[in-house]
Amino acid sequence: MVLLGTVSADNVDKTDKQAKKDIHFENSLVYGSQFAAEELPHFEMRDEPMPAETAYQLVHDELQGDGSTSLNLASFVTTYMEPHAEKLMTESMTKNMIDAEEYPATQDISNRCVNMIARLFNAPVNNADDESLGVSTVGSSEAIILATLAMKRKWQKARKAAGKPYDKPNIVMNSAVQVCWEKAARYLDIVEKYVYCTKDRYVIDPKEAVELCDENTVGVVGILGTTYTGEYEDIKALNDGLEKLQAEKGLDIKIHVDAASGGFVAPFVKPDLQWDFRLPRVVSINASGHKYGMTYAGVGWAVWRSKEYLPEELIFHVNYLGAEQASFTLNFSKSASQVIGQYYVLIRNGKSGFRAIMQSITETSDWLAAELESTGRFVRMNPGGGESLPLVAFRLKEKHHYDEFAIAARLRSRNWIVPAYTMAPHADGLKLLRIVCRLDFSRSRAAALVRDIEQVCDFLDTQDKETIAAWFKDHQTAKQTHAKNRKGTKMNDKHSLQGKHGKTHAVC
Ligand SMILES: Cc1ncc(COP(=O)(O)O)c(C=O)c1O
Repeated sequence: MVLLGTVSADNVDKTDKQAKKDIHFENSLVYGSQFAAEELPHFEMRDEPMPAETAYQLVHDELQGDGSTSLNLASFVTTYMEPHAEKLMTESMTKNMIDAEEYPATQDISNRCVNMIARLFNAPVNNADDESLGVSTVGSSEAIILATLAMKRKWQKARKAAGKPYDKPNIVMNSAVQVCWEKAARYLDIVEKYVYCTKDRYVIDPKEAVELCDENTVGVVGILGTTYTGEYEDIKALNDGLEKLQAEKGLDIKIHVDAASGGFVAPFVKPDLQWDFRLPRVVSINASGHKYGMTYAGVGWAVWRSKEYLPEELIFHVNYLGAEQASFTLNFSKSASQVIGQYYVLIRNGKSGFRAIMQSITETSDWLAAELESTGRFVRMNPGGGESLPLVAFRLKEKHHYDEFAIAARLRSRNWIVPAYTMAPHADGLKLLRIVCRLDFSRSRAAALVRDIEQVCDFLDTQDKETIAAWFKDHQTAKQTHAKNRKGTKMNDKHSLQGKHGKTHAVC
């Protein structure tokens, strides 16, 4: 995960002008131009412009170094939308979502999305004095930071009012949380209390979670679809355990559900599963519109059961460009495209469209898992059959002279991006591979992948340990070489679960 750009000390672009002094360039041609004959700037802006077509083509060419998005089975994030959705999104690109006065129709559409999603999560909607609230975010991470802040502030207010100390808030969660939870806790000065996985349990143990709660607990996190194995945590058991805790010890602790991926799957594949606002302890939920909400990257949602859980002092009433508006976000300006795209997806598919898609990819994931298991080489680690996200988390059945990371690396040379991970702490350093089945992961593609995985394993079987190690080292070097201009961004991440325990921060 590298998103923090480093301003390199080597800030001079070396262009080999000397060697080209005799060439007569034709700057009206992309590839006959001086621009194509030089390396594109890495550090310093050019002094002069270049023709638009050339700039387009050269950047386009540069991007060919990326993996294929549709073969990137590491990611939950949407890689296909219908042309009509893309058209609407392109048309909305110039609109700033925050300009409510100027773009009232856009604002209204955002509110419609909040309403539909809140109802999908069974938010109480019949009490006008106690309305549910929601907001569009850039993704689940922003939604989670906002929800955590709301939980912390509500807890602080209650502690202050009771004349009790309010300087040591904590939050209880599974050690297999996505890294955004570590960020939320760290950024908001909240102590992280982890329920650790074991070598055969990768979801939260509700009993242990309740035992970790104390008077400083701002909330407990339940995950609907963990990042590693896609399993649904037992949020009903968390709810019941916390009810009992209140009855016995008077501690009133609520739940936030991280439904980043499951929020748009479970309501259609497992509608009777009690995970949402039907449970009285669930006070807020996040979901990523850009995952199984089937919209391109950049949209998430946070929904609160009622105003009571969103302290008024966190909401800013700003008068922006002539209109009074309530704002609870971490950022201000953002494009309206993603929200418009989300609305298209909601009205275009309707509930039965969502059901058809989610059930179909669930079936594909089960088929894929069965095929992989039938090779005799692998064990599936998530239950499937609609009891988890439509993904296949699997590992080698037996010990070999190669591991899951070698398989992932070898698949990469066949253009598949299938990540290998080291599981959350206390799971014996367990390694796994994970294939996310998205909307555009068809049965034919799954069949091709199974064939390639088998061939990769057959190949690895014939190689000795040293050859595989040398080959793997070369693969790693290639990745590092590719990232040479990002050198320095790899900081000493000693503070995270990844840094401390070797858990891999999973791709989203
Ligand atoms: C369970 C869970 N929570 C949160 C996130 C972060 O989501 P986003 O990428 O939308 O910020 C992810 C990403 O995969 C996730 O799997």
